[in-house]
Amino acid sequence: MSYLDVKTVDVKMTTGDLMAIDFHSESNRLTYAGREAGDDWARAIRSVVSPEGGRVVDVGCGGGVYCKAWLGLGAASVVGVDFSAAMLSAAREYCEGLRGVTFRHAGAYDTGLPDAAADIVFERALIHHLDDLGACFREARRLLAPGGTLIVQDRTIEDVTRPGTPSHLRGYFFERFPELLETERARRPAGAAVEAAMREAGFRAVRTLELAETRREYAGVEEVRADLLARTGRSILHELNDAQLEDLAAYVCGRLDAAAPVRESDHWTLWVASV
Ligand SMILES: C[S@@+](CC[C@H](N)C(=O)[O-])C[C@H]1O[C@@H](n2cnc3c(N)ncnc32)[C@H](O)[C@@H]1O
Repeated sequence: MSYLDVKTVDVKMTTGDLMAIDFHSESNRLTYAGREAGDDWARAIRSVVSPEGGRVVDVGCGGGVYCKAWLGLGAASVVGVDFSAAMLSAAREYCEGLRGVTFRHAGAYDTGLPDAAADIVFERALIHHLDDLGACFREARRLLAPGGTLIVQDRTIEDVTRPGTPSHLRGYFFERFPELLETERARRPAGAAVEAAMREAGFRAVRTLELAETRREYAGVEEVRADLLARTGRSILHELNDAQLEDLAAYVCGRLDAAAPVRESDHWTLWVASV
């Protein structure tokens, strides 16, 4: 078995039928595809780095949403790296016709790309799926040219456990199924541990920022329900069986104004580190 076949998360099951997401399954290939990155994400990125003309490596690129977004910010090239052939096939479709984007089937610990090949390494929603942050950041350090920047975007347990509101739908997940917090506590990195692992890997000037990123705007609750039932873009929903998921969708939709549009926003932490 190669490292590409190895699942990186050892998610603890909390009840008999709970399952972790299988990134390699064809049935999940569109889970992280088809969305557009929002203006709030672009503003946050521009506040920490100048993307114009840069060479970006997007590790754990999923469906390629942020490969396209980096080009939109003016990057000269983007290499999307992912260990899942299924995700990469969706990313290729999503980025078809875009000049400057290529993809590489490889793991986060060993991308196979040359030394100093990047000005920016970007890792969004990747590190909570890894069991060796040090190996991931050493590889990012190797990829970065002098003056380069590592940007890690992920959620700490504090980000995840913000209360449910009509804009922070994830909070409702844990209100309805508190046992999902066990999974989150086991996999969410502590902010200080991420910083320490970056410094140990040779990064300096590590800083953190908060980001509220618009995830999606829905015309109404039926769109929210359909999105939840499809388990789109949220690996935590793969911990629920179908009956639990339907229960959750009804619970969340019951918290929303049936007649109003919904603007969903997720809370993130950005760790920004320089070489
Ligand atoms: C939650 S998704 C995020 C996708 C994308 N970055 C985004 O934000 O839309 C995590 C992605 O990381 C990939 N991944 C997980 N572990 C990986 C590893 N060890 N090496 C490379 N990719 C990995 C998965 O296949 C998946 O596409």
